[in-house]
Amino acid sequence: MIPILVAYGTTEGQSQKIAEFMAEAVRAEGYRAELMDVSREQAAIVNPVYAGVILGGSVHAGRHSPALERFARRHGDWLKTVPVGFFSVSLTSAHEGDTSRREARRMLDDFLKRTGLEPVRTCLLAGALRYSRYGLLKRWMMRRIARKEGGGTDTSRDYEYTDWDDARLFALEFAREVEGARRHAA
Ligand SMILES: Cc1cc2nc3c(=O)[nH]c(=O)nc-3n(C[C@H](O)[C@H](O)[C@H](O)COP(=O)(O)O)c2cc1C
Repeated sequence: MIPILVAYGTTEGQSQKIAEFMAEAVRAEGYRAELMDVSREQAAIVNPVYAGVILGGSVHAGRHSPALERFARRHGDWLKTVPVGFFSVSLTSAHEGDTSRREARRMLDDFLKRTGLEPVRTCLLAGALRYSRYGLLKRWMMRRIARKEGGGTDTSRDYEYTDWDDARLFALEFAREVEGARRHAA
């Protein structure tokens, strides 16, 4: 079985849910997938047994998390030797239109530039408004932003905008690419 690492950075849990979904999707196709939260202590050491790495996480205040950046930098040498698929989760990606798409792309590219990561495949995914996870101030702030940008404003519930078909497709196409590269190298 081809082993794939699915490493994620999350603050309110949506990127974790996406990573778990991707891991399940590739497992269902016969690959081996292992999950890793990049903010955990164990993420400091990675056993380089994986044939490919899906790495991703969310944007807060215009940037991906410091933990995700740290992971990409710390393991940069190894990540240059395996195919990497990178996914970026944001609310910008929930919005239609070229301007939002460009902005989401810019944040992803900024992460790649800052870390030197060179993924073979990238994916922009819409995240979620998880009012149930926010404290008072964050809830108030996110509701204001949502009102301005056309998102959900009922703070008694959460809103999920992730396109699960896109997430599955990204993970499966990446896994097949890893398999192809392996076969080619053999
Ligand atoms: C405090 C806060 C700041 C955020 N800042 C941005 C932002 O600058 N741009 C954006 O597109 N989304 C932003 N988001 C939306 C998150 O990317 C989105 O909620 C995502 O689903 C979070 O994923 P996570 O649960 O894995 O952390 C922000 C969310 C919060 C709560």
